[in-house]
Amino acid sequence: MDSRLNERWVERFGLAPQDGAQPDGDEVLARMLSRGTCRKFRADAVPEALLQTLLACAQSAPSKSDLQQYSIVVVQDGAARGQIASWLPAMPWVAAAPVFLVFCADTRRNQRVCEIRGRPHANNNLDTFLNATVDAALAMGAFITAAEGAGLGCCPISYVRNHLEEITPLLALPPGVFPVAGLCVGYPAERAPVSMRLPPSLVIHRDRYDDRPLEDELDAYDRRRHAREPIPPEKQKNARSYGTTATCTWSDQVSRQLSLPERAEFRAFLQRHGFDLA
Ligand SMILES: Cc1cc2nc3c(=O)[nH]c(=O)nc-3n(C[C@H](O)[C@H](O)[C@H](O)COP(=O)(O)O)c2cc1C
Repeated sequence: MDSRLNERWVERFGLAPQDGAQPDGDEVLARMLSRGTCRKFRADAVPEALLQTLLACAQSAPSKSDLQQYSIVVVQDGAARGQIASWLPAMPWVAAAPVFLVFCADTRRNQRVCEIRGRPHANNNLDTFLNATVDAALAMGAFITAAEGAGLGCCPISYVRNHLEEITPLLALPPGVFPVAGLCVGYPAERAPVSMRLPPSLVIHRDRYDDRPLEDELDAYDRRRHAREPIPPEKQKNARSYGTTATCTWSDQVSRQLSLPERAEFRAFLQRHGFDLA
């Protein structure tokens, strides 16, 4: 493996790569290996022509059956931006980012397409909801990769879904359209930290799913990650229920977060908002 890719691999996993394919040094691979979420933006505007090209890259993502079941709202209105930022005071990057996008799953457009073509739409179901959500996520992923390649930084914001009742009218999202995530975009004020990932041995399965090594490998991952990115008390999740601890590992944090229900109203909201989920 190219020594630069090798270094980036170690940075990403805290482990040396196993042998295997040895791609030549490649800028795109190196950049993707060392990417990180940006939460500190410079004030510089993103040129409109660049934004349009990045949005075209987002629209170039694959889409299930070519159904293209997503929409992207570019939130330009200052008052609307201010509203969204005011709901998320713990995330000041929402106010600071020069560009804010909302990637939406959209099953409405094709309901209208069917109507316009005089056929019923007989697929307002869970599968279509999933496909639309995947389409929106792939478009956001393509946008992020393109933007980071162009020297920009991005931060997805799932927390817009904590304010569905407010953001839906604010952005005039009709039934059949819901926000999967917001996205802050701008020029980074500093290099984004590289967050250590689970070892490939836990995520990549060869031919058969096998999670037998989980417990052992998890302990090792927790130790490696804690040594490099300790989670300080103020970032430990659900401290009201669990207090804070001197050592809070990645798996502690995951179990802290997932032990209490989040967004319990989501299904009911979707059902009121044009998704049958049958
Ligand atoms: C769908 C999605 C929603 C996210 N929502 C938020 C968010 O609301 N606020 C935030 O600061 N980061 C958010 N993130 C960023 C993640 O926290 C980040 O990707 C993760 O911690 C891994 O860090 P990295 O991207 O720097 O490697 C989100 C990421 C994704 C993919």
